[in-house]
Amino acid sequence: MKGDLFEAQEPPPARQPIGEGAVLLRGFALGEESELIAALRAILAAAPFRHMITPGGHTMSVAMSNCGAVGWVTDRKGYRYDAVDPASGNRWPAMPALFAGLARRAAGEAGFADFQPDACLINRYVPGAKMSLHRDKDEADFTAPIVSVSFGLPAVFMFGGMSRSDKPQRFALQHGDVVAWGGASRLVFHGVAALKDGEHPLLGRQRINLTFRKAR
Ligand code: SIN
Ligand code: FE2
Repeated sequence: MKGDLFEAQEPPPARQPIGEGAVLLRGFALGEESELIAALRAILAAAPFRHMITPGGHTMSVAMSNCGAVGWVTDRKGYRYDAVDPASGNRWPAMPALFAGLARRAAGEAGFADFQPDACLINRYVPGAKMSLHRDKDEADFTAPIVSVSFGLPAVFMFGGMSRSDKPQRFALQHGDVVAWGGASRLVFHGVAALKDGEHPLLGRQRINLTFRKAR
């Protein structure tokens, strides 16, 4: 019966437009979660998580690593992409074809065909960690979109406007959800609210986010 309090809730739509050139794809990474997480563990064994320092001297609450031809780094000298992991002096681990394929398909859902990311940032949030509103603007070419894949504990993703003061929409991102944004939305302000405590059956007390970009 419509309107019955006990009626099962409608599942959220699998593909939700959240802006011009921006979509939230619920559970998009779930089909390959074990392979993706196994590949992730191998990357992290070669390039472990570390807390980077912002140019202003703050230690980020989010721990980071990278895979791909280049990785995003920050230190007192600034934000940039570098082929070498400053912690080891080695090149960042290669981006698995599985990662690049997932990113390419997600970008296609947002209207960006043939996305070829060369960088994958790996962010780890433990309870309390957050990422303030910012724009991804260290990349050479803004015609390519950003693709973000979430695993582990749920987080509140803030997706704002072109100005820092625009009130952001808030979306609860779950394990396996993917967000892709580009075109008119490429430079929107976005961020992640402080992670709530919890225990994820596969990943424990953390959230891991993969962000794919075309940096060069
Ligand atoms: C980022 O904006 O780089 C990360 C976003 C997220 O963790 O969902
Ligand atoms: Fe970002």
